Amino acid sequence: MRDIKIAPSILASDFSKLGEEVRAVTEAGADWIHLDVMDGHFVPNISYGPDVIAALRAHTEIPFDCHLMIAPADPYLEAFARAGCDTITVHAEAGPHLHRSLQAIRALGKKAGVTLNPATPVSAIEHVIDMVDLVLVMSVNPGFGGQKFIDAVVPKIAAIDALIGDRPIDLEVDGGVTAATAPACAKAGANAFVAGSAIFKGGTVDAYRANIEAIRAAATDNRP
Ligand code: DX5
Ligand code: ZN
Repeated sequence: MRDIKIAPSILASDFSKLGEEVRAVTEAGADWIHLDVMDGHFVPNISYGPDVIAALRAHTEIPFDCHLMIAPADPYLEAFARAGCDTITVHAEAGPHLHRSLQAIRALGKKAGVTLNPATPVSAIEHVIDMVDLVLVMSVNPGFGGQKFIDAVVPKIAAIDALIGDRPIDLEVDGGVTAATAPACAKAGANAFVAGSAIFKGGTVDAYRANIEAIRAAATDNRP
């Protein structure tokens, strides 16, 4: 069974002290740092890019889980690899050559991830499943933190879990994840949980730890 991973999204952190926030969630027990890169084109918001990620690399040793919401992605993959991302995830909708993007990520020596918007069917990744280390299921329309979890993605998580089968692929969910929505995702087969607003509230390491542990417990207690 795949390990449970909790991945705080720093999109919800205090951008004026990003290094400190990364250290705080690391100390609070985060497994991965989730990095939401937005271009104002593929999604209607702009966040941060490879230079910010590179600056954060020295602040923690846990893996950087990079979620690229950019189109095109291919010209920038090398920059994100150099910035210290461990997993680089591209959207299936972000370009016509998903297979090539995933090949390029692995050629850079990084773990390759693919993600699907809520409206995108599972069939979009059927033929690239052997090229990925992670599948990210979007449970909100990407672009903003703090949105409501879309329940209709739960059966999609189950379908992707079936597609993954015994392969060593993490199944991650992103958007509106809280201790209340994590159980249905875990039951459907998700093992990795991104959360922004549910983790970065309270402003202290102790608060972050409690927030992380609440999601971890909700997920662990509801494994299939
Ligand atoms: C949305 C991002 C998410 C977001 C999650 O485009 O991909 O990672 O930060 O934020 P919450 O947990 O607040 O929905
Ligand atoms: Zn994300």
